[in-house]
Amino acid sequence: RITHIDAIEVLDSRGNPTVEAALQLEDGSEGRAMTPSGASTGMHEAAELRDGDSHRYGGKGVQKAVAGIRDEIAGALANKDPGEQRALDRLLCELDGTPNKGRLGANAILAVSIAYARAVAASRKLPLYRHLGGDNAVTLPVPCLNVINGGRHADNTVDFQEFKIVPHHAASFAESIRMGEEVFHALKKLLQKHGLSTGVGDEGGFAPNLHSNEQAIELIIAAIEAAGYRPGEQVALALDPAASEMWHHGRYRFFKSNQSEIDSQAMTALWSDWLQRYPIVLLEDPLSEHDWDGWSEATRQLGNRVELVGDDIFCTNPELLQRGIREGVANSILIKPNQIGTVTETLDCVEQAKAAGYGCYVSHRSGETEDTFIADLVVAIGCGHIKTGSGCRGERTAKFNRLLRIEHELGSRARFAGRAAFVR
Ligand code: PGA
Ligand code: ZN
Repeated sequence: RITHIDAIEVLDSRGNPTVEAALQLEDGSEGRAMTPSGASTGMHEAAELRDGDSHRYGGKGVQKAVAGIRDEIAGALANKDPGEQRALDRLLCELDGTPNKGRLGANAILAVSIAYARAVAASRKLPLYRHLGGDNAVTLPVPCLNVINGGRHADNTVDFQEFKIVPHHAASFAESIRMGEEVFHALKKLLQKHGLSTGVGDEGGFAPNLHSNEQAIELIIAAIEAAGYRPGEQVALALDPAASEMWHHGRYRFFKSNQSEIDSQAMTALWSDWLQRYPIVLLEDPLSEHDWDGWSEATRQLGNRVELVGDDIFCTNPELLQRGIREGVANSILIKPNQIGTVTETLDCVEQAKAAGYGCYVSHRSGETEDTFIADLVVAIGCGHIKTGSGCRGERTAKFNRLLRIEHELGSRARFAGRAAFVR
C-alpha cells in the first residue's frame, strides 16, 4: 500500500529544472526518482510538462508537473495497493488520459513510475536490477563513451552529434570502463597537443572545432593507439550523427560545418564508405525520423555489417517499433525510458524488440541527473550495451559507478557482455 507521495522541483545537468518524486509504502520502504531531459528529441516522444512561465527558469519550470504529483497523482494513489508495476503504470496513464502523457507530463509520470519500482524493490529487499530482471540479471554492459560531442550538444563546427568509443575487449565492466577512461585521457592530451579545445559538451565529451567530421574519427583512432589499444580489435567505434537534426526539406544538411546538402542515398553511401574505412560497430540514427524509406534502404544495404539503432524514429514506442519491424527499419532500438514515460512500457518495448530479433541499447539523455535507474535497467534486461556519457561529469559517472557496484555485488555471477552484445 502506498502511504505517501511527494515531489519537488530539482535541477538537471544543464541547470534546468526537472521533477523528483518520492514515494513511501506501508512497510516504510521508500523510492525516489528524477527524470532526465533530451535536447535532440524525437517528434513522437511522450511530452514533458513545462510551466511556460517566462519569469521562472526561462519558462522551463516544472511546478505544474510537481503539483500534479502532489495533488492529483497522490490523491488517486494514496492508500491504494497497485501491486504489480504494470497496474501502477496503467493507473498513471489512465489518470493522465492523453496519448502522449502531456496533461500530467511524462516527466511527472516517469518519476512516480521509477520511484514505485524502487520502493517495491526495497520492500522485497532486492537490488533494483534483480527486482526488474529476475535471477538471470547478471550481464554487465559494454559502455559506449561519447568522447567527441557535436551537433545540438555542443557549440562547435562538428555536424554529427556523438563519436563514441566501444571498449569491448575486456574481461569485466571494470576493465572496460578503465580502457575507456584511458582512451578519453589520451584523447585530451592529443587535443592539447594540436592546440584544440578540451572543454566538454553536454554529455562530457570534448567539443573542439574541427575541420571535418572525419577528423573526429581520426583523432579518436589516434587516441586509442596512444592509450596502447588496437582500434577495432580491442576498442571499436560507434556513432550517433542524430540525422533528424540535419533533415532540411528532404535532404541532409551539414548545418554546422559547410552548409552543404546531400540526399538520402548519398547519406547511406557515406555510411557505407565509413564502415569500410573505420572500425564502426554501431550506427544510431544514421538517417532522419522523417525518412522511413531511406531508413529501410539503409537497413537493406548496411544491416548485415553493423548494428543500426533507431532512436528518434522509434522513440522507445512499441507502436513505432512495430512499424519499423514491418518495414525493415533498423536492427536495434535505443531504449530511453523518458521517451515513453513508464517503466512498464519501456520493458514492453524491450520485449517486443527481443522477440523480433532486434538489439536493445540503453541510453541516458543529454540533460541528466545523478539518478542511476538506467544502470539497473541495462542489467535487468541484459542487453549488453549502454551509452551514458563520456569519461567525466558526475551525472554520467554516477551510472558507471552504479554499474561498478552492481558488478562487485554480483561477484563471480557477473558476466561482461563484450563484442557479442552488438547486432551484426
Ligand atoms: P538527447 O540526445 O538526449 O538530446 O535527445 C541523445 C541522443 O540523440 O541519443
Ligand atoms: Zn540518438
